[in-house]
Amino acid sequence: MRSDDDSWEITESVGATALGVAAMRAAETRRDDALFRDPYAERLVRATGNDGWARMLDGDFARRRQELGRPGVGNGGFLVGRTVYFDEYFAAASAAGLRQVVILAAGLDARAYRLEWPSGTVLFELDQPKVLAFKAEALAGVQPAADRHEVAVDLRHDWPQALRDNGFDPTVPTAWLAEGLLRYLPADALDRLFENIEALSAPGSRLATSTGQGLPRLPESERAGRAALLAEVGIQLDVDSLWYAEEGRSDPVEWFAGHGWTVSSTGLAEVLTAHGRPTPADETYRHTLLTAIRG
Ligand SMILES: C[S@@+](CC[C@H](N)C(=O)[O-])C[C@H]1O[C@@H](n2cnc3c(N)ncnc32)[C@H](O)[C@@H]1O
Repeated sequence: MRSDDDSWEITESVGATALGVAAMRAAETRRDDALFRDPYAERLVRATGNDGWARMLDGDFARRRQELGRPGVGNGGFLVGRTVYFDEYFAAASAAGLRQVVILAAGLDARAYRLEWPSGTVLFELDQPKVLAFKAEALAGVQPAADRHEVAVDLRHDWPQALRDNGFDPTVPTAWLAEGLLRYLPADALDRLFENIEALSAPGSRLATSTGQGLPRLPESERAGRAALLAEVGIQLDVDSLWYAEEGRSDPVEWFAGHGWTVSSTGLAEVLTAHGRPTPADETYRHTLLTAIRG
């Protein structure tokens, strides 16, 4: 259950969702036909020292899913398409000359370390203090490929000031990323997030994010099944209970288009298909990925 001012360690509440997606990146990295490689994902997840997450990495969760004939439950395929899309988004932003990057709710995203950034790129990672502290310790000694700055904030509060205080320059165009964040914010905080991004975006700035707005929520049986399977391997995580889903939440495609940004969007399934990866007929794969550019 969420509250207005909740905070978390990496293995708790919303923090654990960052471990979940990092574990999926580790699984993709091990495939012969991997669509991307994240050499830090496994190290980050193992750094928890948590038995449940180690079992997840060792395949216990996936095996159990297969045994129960529920391959779709907690399947990380959607994460693969999302990662590929956002990696390509940053490559395009760099090619277009953007040298300031803000990763909102960075969690255990290792793009600062694993992508090629043009020299002079300044990259800000925002997340809750304990999440960033965990990551810094787990990656101690690893050199980022950009000039990386951590900004420990709560994205429901006044993060723009903290971002500026850490050297962010609102007069130059920025490549923003909000991956796996929007549904963890209440509707009013989501609106403020969009307003703040716009207020800090010089012309030429761009934002990438994803949305499942309008898609039906997972049936209760699927949701409970997933949480129960995770509990079996020792992980306490019911992702769906951490989301906000009020009626009338802003949709990023509509919001940014309505504010004069040029929005292009595609489906998660389309991205995966374009990269030769079959996609199950699962609601999750109907998510929209979008890039908005401020003219
Ligand atoms: C699903 S994870 C995604 C992490 C990362 N973007 C990725 O895709 O690997 C959600 C992340 O959002 C962060 N987050 C959610 N709400 C937040 C808030 N109000 N303030 C700061 N960080 C927040 C969590 O700490 C967590 O790292």
